[in-house]
Amino acid sequence: MLLRKLSLVNFKNIRSASAEFSAGINCLVGGNGAGKTNILDAIYYLSMCKSALAMTDRQNLCHGEPFFVIEGAYDSDAGRHFDIVCSYAQQGGKKVKNGSKEYDRIADHVGLIPVVIVSPADAFLVSDAAEERRRYLNAFISQLDRDYLQTVMRYNAVLGERNRLLKELSGPTQEEILSVLDQQLIAHGEKIHARRAAFIDRLRPLTAAYYRTLSDDREQVELLYRSDLNDKPFEEVLKASFERDRINQFTTAGVHRDDLSMRIGGRALRKYGSQGQQKSFLIALKLAQYAVVADTAAEKPILLLDDLFDKLDTERVERLIGLVGGDDFGQIFISDCNPHRLQSILEKNGSRYALFRVEAGHVEPNP
Ligand SMILES: Nc1ncnc2c1ncn2[C@@H]1O[C@H](COP(=O)(O)OP(=O)(O)OP(=O)(O)O)[C@@H](O)[C@H]1O
Ligand SMILES: [Mg+2]
Repeated sequence: MLLRKLSLVNFKNIRSASAEFSAGINCLVGGNGAGKTNILDAIYYLSMCKSALAMTDRQNLCHGEPFFVIEGAYDSDAGRHFDIVCSYAQQGGKKVKNGSKEYDRIADHVGLIPVVIVSPADAFLVSDAAEERRRYLNAFISQLDRDYLQTVMRYNAVLGERNRLLKELSGPTQEEILSVLDQQLIAHGEKIHARRAAFIDRLRPLTAAYYRTLSDDREQVELLYRSDLNDKPFEEVLKASFERDRINQFTTAGVHRDDLSMRIGGRALRKYGSQGQQKSFLIALKLAQYAVVADTAAEKPILLLDDLFDKLDTERVERLIGLVGGDDFGQIFISDCNPHRLQSILEKNGSRYALFRVEAGHVEPNP
């Protein structure tokens, strides 16, 4: 997928800007606070209909403005052209349009313009609770499988009812309704587990391989899927945990407790990985995600590398550029606050690239 042209109005610190990008590597350089991350986030927004930075739409409004508009013109690998407009107004809310047609359900747009982002904000995937990793997994799979997100929402709805029931009722009535709810929970839960297991199976070897390249074979990492459903069918899991559920008054086992385990040299990455190693792991994971999306959607995603040098040493950045400059990758956006070090690595690698200067919310191509 190729983003030919991006236009922004009132998106964070960018009051009005537009830029035409090239295939291959696009570098955005500029000082701290210039607006580089905001531009990458706008590109992400056009694909996912939300910010990559846990921002509400209202927080994305340029201070004091009543609306923002993000517009992108794309050419797909399959030769199709898309004009996508995402807008948000304090009055009127969010709208997403593909050409002249507005989506009835915004979720239907997700997946059309595949995107993968690597950003300093990813650090929470290592440091935070399992919920964040499930959220990541859900966003990743829902770009490829529209059904999946629906199933997750249905699962959560049934789970909510089940938890209410455990709190509010007891005795035979409780058991009767529970048996109906459990059938639904099991059906949705098994489906979610199967999808997650299948995608993580594909991510695992790719993540390990990309990490080996990034670290020059210095370290070994592992990505594992942790789920109550890995060893037993959900029905048995629910039976086994029923007493505990009743005492706790909520559902203590199921795919809502799934987690991704990240390990380095056989140990927990969160505890034993250095910051650069954690960052390298996240990059390897995202590149693996890229490969899986490219393969499944038959469309190379747009790759956003925000703040490329964040926590990485120069050798790792060079190996990363060597990787993403290769034929397996399509259009890439890289941001860095130092123009010279990025340029020198790109020159050294022999990569072709276009350079853009970002300053106080404006983007200018570098002649
Ligand atoms: N809603 C908003 N309205 C106006 N300005 C905003 C809004 N949200 C953030 N900003 C401003 O946007 C700027 C941050 O932009 P951004 O994060 O894109 O910078 P950056 O170029 O990525 O910098 P760095 O190199 O530090 O990562 C800040 O000056 C911030 O005050
Ligand atoms: Mg930034």
